[in-house]
Amino acid sequence: MRYNKKSMKIRLDYNNMMSSVIGKDGIKEDDFKTPSFCRDLKKAFKSVEEGKGKGMMGWADLPYNQDEIVEDILETAKSIRKNFEYFVVLGIGGSALGPIATFQALCHLHYNDLPRRIRKGPKFYVEDNVDPERMEALLDIIDIEKTMFNVVTKSGSTSETMTQYLIINNILKQKLGDKAKDHIIATTSKSAGNLIKIAEKEGYKTFYIPDGVGGRFSELCPVGLLPAAVVDIDIKGLLLGAKFMLEECKSDNLKKNPALMSAVLQHLSMKNGKNIGVMMPYADGLKFIADWYAQLWAESLGKNVTLSGKSCHVGQTPVKALGVTDQHSQVQLYAEGPFDKVITFIGVDEYRTTVEIPKGCEEYPNVNFLCGHTMNELIQAERMATEYAVTKAGKLNYTIMLPTLNAFTLGQLLMYFMLQTAYAGALLNIDTFNQPGVEEGKNATYALLGRPGYDEKRMELANAPQKQNKYIIC
Ligand code: PA5
Repeated sequence: MRYNKKSMKIRLDYNNMMSSVIGKDGIKEDDFKTPSFCRDLKKAFKSVEEGKGKGMMGWADLPYNQDEIVEDILETAKSIRKNFEYFVVLGIGGSALGPIATFQALCHLHYNDLPRRIRKGPKFYVEDNVDPERMEALLDIIDIEKTMFNVVTKSGSTSETMTQYLIINNILKQKLGDKAKDHIIATTSKSAGNLIKIAEKEGYKTFYIPDGVGGRFSELCPVGLLPAAVVDIDIKGLLLGAKFMLEECKSDNLKKNPALMSAVLQHLSMKNGKNIGVMMPYADGLKFIADWYAQLWAESLGKNVTLSGKSCHVGQTPVKALGVTDQHSQVQLYAEGPFDKVITFIGVDEYRTTVEIPKGCEEYPNVNFLCGHTMNELIQAERMATEYAVTKAGKLNYTIMLPTLNAFTLGQLLMYFMLQTAYAGALLNIDTFNQPGVEEGKNATYALLGRPGYDEKRMELANAPQKQNKYIIC
């Protein structure tokens, strides 16, 4: 598909972050000019620019280096669409949130309920938990003999994903014997972990997660591209959008680099005590982008040590909201509560459909005023009204506008947030790409369930303070 880059470019409107609009909490033009700010900005920009494609920044190369892989993915997806009725992703965290967000953004909002001939692809599920009720519920609704499972784990060892794999593989083997292997595709690291060894032994079709691409930065590699292609999403368009955004963000001039600007706005706000970052898209299609972003932002920036080894406790707590739904739930707090947040609104100029509000209720003017408008006008008015209300209340906010929601604009948005995160991490002078806090929990789980090699951790847990009954009410 072809996209008009000029008309499909996403925009950043940061008026309501500036003190001239928002008042005392806002950022002043002069804040962008102080020598220490300019020095830190140049350093952060340079470290991201020079890091691209190296170390854990392999994600910045994905729009450029996957031609062959994309062809393989498209072929594989075509065969899955032809031969399977269900496609189930088994994964968690970065191995699940991107596929969920992209599916929600670019497929019919009731995709699984559509008749097969309209759907074009198999029914689609992403199982990102180990709640036994959810596993049983999945098994109740799929026909396992008509299901392709995509086991996705970069480390190849995550307990949740490997548990799901063990359960599914066991059922498949009981039902299909040697043919079980034709129902599993592995997406994992080529060089590390257990899944790659299992995949080679069992003969699974396998896609690789490049070493320099961490879980939460992996949506644009086979982790996200295969599931997206299976449901007929234009994955080349996604990559084109991401590439376009990379090229839009090549300057250290803040006003010419939107991802750098939003990282700076967030960074200056964090320094000023804004410890909460709300993301509020005004489109159901973007609902799970807020979930994907929450992991990206939280795991990347929530750190307790700087790159130079100094103790720090930084990060910003992401809060997920949906416009207009959460206007009737959280906006009261945003408007009148503490001055501790930055709100990122995401708007869409042109929704993919127009719904007119028909005539009716003539005798009730307070209802009838809606008639003759469209739902499109209503949602835009509500977005602008909420932006106005929180701005009037002095609460920092900015808006990212998508011309429309398609593969090209979504690719831009994904890359925008990955770059914003990399810049923000560099400004905070932390390791954006590790997650020791997550590893600690993973290791404790291994110890509790008796994984070999975790005796020391098991001892540590046994010696940890025990729960006291006096603090339990029953
Ligand atoms: O961003 C990360 O690296 C993590 O949150 C992982 O995505 C998550 O823990 C799942 O790991 P894996 O893909 O190794 O199963």
